[in-house]
Amino acid sequence: MTQPSLSHDLHWWQRGVVYQIYPRSFKDNTGNGVGDLQGVIEKLDYLNDGSTDPTSNDIPKSLGIDAIWLSPFYPSPMADFGYDVADYCNIHPLFGSLDTFDLLVTEAHRRGIKIIIDYVPNHSSDQHPWFIESRSSRDNPKRTWYIWRDPKPEGGLPNNWGSVFGGPAWTWDETTGQYYFHQFLKEQPDLNWRNSEVRQAMLDVLRFWLDRGVDGFRMDVIGMIIKDTKLRDNPTNPDASPDLHPDDIFGRHLHLYNEDQDEVHEVIRIFRRLLDEYGNRCAIGELWCDLPRWVKYYGENGDGLHLPFNFRLLSLPWNAEAIRQSVEQMEAALPTFAWPNYVLGSHDAQRLATRIGSKQARVAAMLLLTLRGTPTLYYGDELGMENGVIPIEKMQDPQGLHFGPDRNRDVCRTPMQWTDGPSAGFSTTDSSTSEPVEPWLPVSADFESRNVDAQSAEPTSMLNLYRRLLWYRRATPTLQAGRYMSVDAGGDDCFVYLREHPTGKCLMALNFTDQSRTLSIPNMQNGSLVISTYLDRTETVSNSTLSLRPNEGVIIRIE
Ligand code: NOJ
Repeated sequence: MTQPSLSHDLHWWQRGVVYQIYPRSFKDNTGNGVGDLQGVIEKLDYLNDGSTDPTSNDIPKSLGIDAIWLSPFYPSPMADFGYDVADYCNIHPLFGSLDTFDLLVTEAHRRGIKIIIDYVPNHSSDQHPWFIESRSSRDNPKRTWYIWRDPKPEGGLPNNWGSVFGGPAWTWDETTGQYYFHQFLKEQPDLNWRNSEVRQAMLDVLRFWLDRGVDGFRMDVIGMIIKDTKLRDNPTNPDASPDLHPDDIFGRHLHLYNEDQDEVHEVIRIFRRLLDEYGNRCAIGELWCDLPRWVKYYGENGDGLHLPFNFRLLSLPWNAEAIRQSVEQMEAALPTFAWPNYVLGSHDAQRLATRIGSKQARVAAMLLLTLRGTPTLYYGDELGMENGVIPIEKMQDPQGLHFGPDRNRDVCRTPMQWTDGPSAGFSTTDSSTSEPVEPWLPVSADFESRNVDAQSAEPTSMLNLYRRLLWYRRATPTLQAGRYMSVDAGGDDCFVYLREHPTGKCLMALNFTDQSRTLSIPNMQNGSLVISTYLDRTETVSNSTLSLRPNEGVIIRIE
């Protein structure tokens, strides 16, 4: 297990907390119903005003995050809401301009907030000039920038691979008489990363943004960029659910040949060398593979990704034992140079509060912000936002439109709830009619009570719990850098763990049930209960018996 580091030795991406913004849904400054970068600038003080004293005991007004990850804002036909990029080095006019972006970087940095942007290397839009050229003729110089294949000799698709969004991963191109490969929508053709010109062009994209001052990249489906050289058929997954949608070819296969090929690590090392030239930058990767394969993405000696996203807590049953086991397995698997991280929500997942219930969502907040490793927090989870209800006729997500409401990702992309006013304060009024604007997705029905203003005024709200936890973490080197150790406190429905550091110790006890629990903490020293998820008690703890209320989590500072 990794030894403790002093928090001042840590990099910002180890010490800090990442906040994911889905730009379409955060704040609409132009009054067109879609969020934009100027809207993000407007709300920076909400995220971290750069001036709050971390050691103060008052609940601060700003959240206290350290870095923003922005989902794509590039020019795009929006077939997959920006994950279909038509120009990697510009901003969609919906979101602003390069000038707005530069201002965002300046204003964020002024407050000590780092900027992480989404890098989408696996595929472009079919409207990207590279693909338009590629599909124009078989002998176009950009033909080999994408993956084109003839039908099988006996006719039919080049192999059995499925698209994540349904149907086969191959689309026939009438003009040039070949199929092209797309792991996602047919509007998202996959780039050919075995072509050195593609590598150079995509490295230039990283340079473009690094030169503009970005601090890191979240690399979309990074494990998919290299495919098997022979594009062999994937085997059938014997454990695939019989209830899969008939069109879910992707879900029926084991992904042996379309992703996680060993050569991907060589490309990641190249990315990493480039980032290291700039210094103090961070590479995060979106990865979906089992623990032994996932760990390899840190590189052999820490020359890979800084943070391969750890999504395991997103899909586990929400009980103390399952969560503890996942944490322990990951801690045990990490080489000494690797830094852990945890994700509890994203623009692709069900809302946390819907998944585990609003009471346990408070326990989850404490878990996320006290485990060893970098937490990523999804916008709106700090309010306990729940899945939006999206009528069929308002559905936008291509995955939901194909597979049906159960797999609709719009539910977690509804507008951020700022106030109890029109559109929850997300949009302004239409400049021509002065009428309130209708946001691109419906605002959730609970916005009148669940919004930033209302929760700021309520001392024990979810928002104030997040603020308290975030600022306590900022002021406590033990929580940033301390060693993690699980504690056996009897029973398996509470998760108890210790963080230990030369500057002090913290004990966390989280009750995953809706009943009271009395725990027996071995070798308990005197301590102070500093935060309860109810935000209603602080007290001295002087014996080994600790009582927790239903759905309560506590942090105890050990003296
Ligand atoms: C993963 C992203 O998180 C998701 O939103 C997107 O649809 C796919 N990659 C394709 O880019």
